[in-house]
Parts: sequence; structure tokens; C-alpha cells
Amino acid sequence: MSDTPELDPDLLEKVTNLAKRRGFIFQSAEIYGGFRSTYDYGPLGVNMLRNVKNAWWYSMVQTRRDIVGIDAAILGPPAVWAASGHLETFTDPLVDCLNCKERWREDKIDGVCPNCGSTKFTEPRAFNLMFKTQAGPVEGEGATAYLRPETAQGIFTNFANVLATTRKKPPFGIAQVGKSFRNEITPQNFVFRTREFEQMEMEYFVAPEEAPEWHRYWIETRFAWYIDLGIPENWLRKYEHALADLSHYSKGTTDVEFFYPWGWDELEGIANRGDYDLTQHSKHSGVALDYFDPTTNERYTPYVIEPAAGATRAMMAFLLAAYHEDVVEGETRTVLRLDWRLAPYQVAVLPLSKKSELEGVSAEVLEILQPHFMCDYDVTQSIGRRYRRQDEIGTPLCVTVDFETLNDRAVTVRDRDTTEQVRVALTDLVEYIHSRTRNES
Ligand code: GAP
Repeated sequence: MSDTPELDPDLLEKVTNLAKRRGFIFQSAEIYGGFRSTYDYGPLGVNMLRNVKNAWWYSMVQTRRDIVGIDAAILGPPAVWAASGHLETFTDPLVDCLNCKERWREDKIDGVCPNCGSTKFTEPRAFNLMFKTQAGPVEGEGATAYLRPETAQGIFTNFANVLATTRKKPPFGIAQVGKSFRNEITPQNFVFRTREFEQMEMEYFVAPEEAPEWHRYWIETRFAWYIDLGIPENWLRKYEHALADLSHYSKGTTDVEFFYPWGWDELEGIANRGDYDLTQHSKHSGVALDYFDPTTNERYTPYVIEPAAGATRAMMAFLLAAYHEDVVEGETRTVLRLDWRLAPYQVAVLPLSKKSELEGVSAEVLEILQPHFMCDYDVTQSIGRRYRRQDEIGTPLCVTVDFETLNDRAVTVRDRDTTEQVRVALTDLVEYIHSRTRNES
């Protein structure tokens, strides 16, 4: 593997500012002073986050015959979380600083209070990270519900339903994308660790003896996914957890780590969960959650290999890795070198002038492109300024409509990375952009 990248010391601040300034990510409830650790995704962010999730779904579900999808409920009864072990063990060690009274996650502060520098703390106590709420109009124990802290459990509780309604048999997977909630003690680093976030998880059910091989397969496959979508290989590494540090369900976990501005940290975890979850849910619910193999006449509880990624965390990693500053025509520009599959807009349509002569043909160009690509449309400011604005948000191609377009029925297509421009006939435009974007992948 190549060397660790050299990072701009201000990278996190620059990306955070850009995200806010251009409408990727806003602080939630900002007009009320902000609600700590929750974020809203703006017009550009919602496109990009959707693209991250679509790229994951494309590789995990659409292009595979062994994986199906599911979309389970976010609210769940205590029984699910008792069986999964979350009620008992999904905790972080909480300490109070004896000097300033701030509360911290003990394993994240190296014995020194980040607020006041004191080294004196209370004894750590287990703090459960699940959000507890109440379902229905009657209060009391029977009404308790939890917001899911991971999407995985909705997959396990539907294992029998999926087996019964599809013709899948091990090895096969069930994938899910959606929100999860954790009452993190110290949310931090922009959208890296938040209390409300989105996960992309897949539970892959295999014969127990095949689990180690499939574990290796999914570690490699998931690592390659980030590289395919544009993260340079030296920004990524694999980190195998020591046995003593494993989660309560895991027989082995390897993380894909990313080189964040604060150093190497988790991007995704790929765990061998063994038969822990199906066995637990089977015991607690009384419903058999196993598989009968008609070829061997054997019944067994499948092992589970779980690649568990964060959609919001992955989006942050893609933004950090894509951020560049370079010099074009003597001027420094900011450019997000995002893969076209992730960019909020694939194309920007830019009429050279606001004059009314160009309005009709510009609208026509936009209508040609919109069914195929997510497009921006911008008529304000000089064309140079507008190119810079598109570079800064990662739009791979700009299509400029000029007065010549009225005669030759062609437009100029400009490339974000090389800034090269070519003239393309309107009749060829969709095919041309398809070929350009495909080639970049
Ligand atoms: N089902 C296994 C599981 O949830 P995890 O390592 O706790 O494993 C998987 O979470 C991924 O979800 C993490 O690698 C990360 O990308 C994302 N994630 C977890 N907690 C998060 C948080 N508080 N904020 C943002 N993303 C988070």
C-alpha cells in the first residue's frame, strides 16, 4: 500500500464550510441556535446522500442475484432489543469530570478532560445508547419502544419472512438502508458521529463452515467499493479488531478505516456475527430461525457476515477525499473531484447570456438532459464564475449554450477536471454525456 496522504491541516474546516455555504449540510434547527449533533441535508446534500445510498444499493442488491432488500420499521418493542443484547450491553463508559462536571465517553479522552484539562473523574458507569420512547397514548411499561440503534435487527427478525417469500438459500443476503439513532455521549467531528444517522447494512447468511471465507470476501469487496467510487487507496486501510475489543455479537471484525483529518478511524465494520442473532431471536420469540438444506437433509442455523456502513459517514469521507484546490488560468479554484455517480449534479446547463434569444434553446437543452441526469441550471454571473461554482460542488460537466447554438444546434461541454471544452451537437448530447460519465467510472 502507498504512503499515508498529506492532508491540508484546515481540510475539515474547509469541507465543513463548503458544505454549509453551498447547501450540502446545515446544522439542524439552526434558527433556534442549533440542535447539537443533528444535521439537515440541503439541496446538494440530499442529492449526494441519495447517490451514496444508490451506489451502495446498486452494488449490493441490483447487480447481484444472491441479495434482496428490505425496509423495516425504525420503532421496535423492547423484546427485540432484549434478544439482540442491546438492552444489556449496548453501552459506552460514561464519566463525569469532577472539576467542570462535563460528561465524557471514557475511552475517547485519554484521561484528560477536553473542556478543562482536569484528570479527575467519577468511576465509569455503563450508559445505554438507545433512545427510549413511548408508543401509543397510554404511558407505562407496556408502551415502551426504542428507536433502532442499527438497521441489522429488522433484518434478523424478518429472516423467516424473507426465506418464505423468496427462493433464496444460503449463501444469500438481506440489505437495508435507513436511519439509526444512538444517544452518543460525545458526538463529534461534523457528521462523523451523530445521534441520528443513516446506515447501509447487509446481513449475509452462510453455512457455518463457509463463514471465514465469506468474511474475507466481504472485507475485500467493501474495501474495493470505496476505491471504485474515487477514494484513493492510500486514504484507506483495513484494521482487524483484537478479540478482547469485539462487540458482544462478534466472532471477528475488520474495519475499513479512512484517513480523516484527525487520523485513521472507522468508516465501515465487517463482522462475522456467527449464529448469535438468529439463535437469540429464535430463543426469545419461540420461532425457529434456521435453514433446512434439502440436498443434505440437514437443518442448521446460518452464520452471518455483516458489512455495516454509514451512509452519512461515507458521504463525509467522499467529500474529504474529493476536496482539492488547484490553479486554473492563474486563479486558485476549489474543486470537488467527486465521481460522477456521487456528484449532486452530473450536468450544469449554463446559458452564456441572460438575453431572451437564448432562453428558448437553453430550456430545450435542459429538457433534453433532465430525464437522464440530475441537472443544475444557472444564468447568474460571468461564465467563468459559474464554472468555478460548479467545480466547487463537483459537477463533472458544464453545458454552455451560446449564440452559435441558435445556428449550429450544438453546445460546448466543459470538463470539471481538465477544463477542456468540446462542441457537441444537441442530437448527440445525451449519448455523449453518458459515454463521458461511464468512462470516468
Ligand atoms: N450492525 C452493526 C453496527 O451497527 P457499527 O460499527 O456500530 O456496527 C456501523 O456501525 C457503521 O455505522 C459505522 O461503521 C459507521 O459508518 C456508522 N455509524 C455508527 N455509529 C454512527 C454515528 N453515531 N454517527 C454516524 N455514523 C455512525
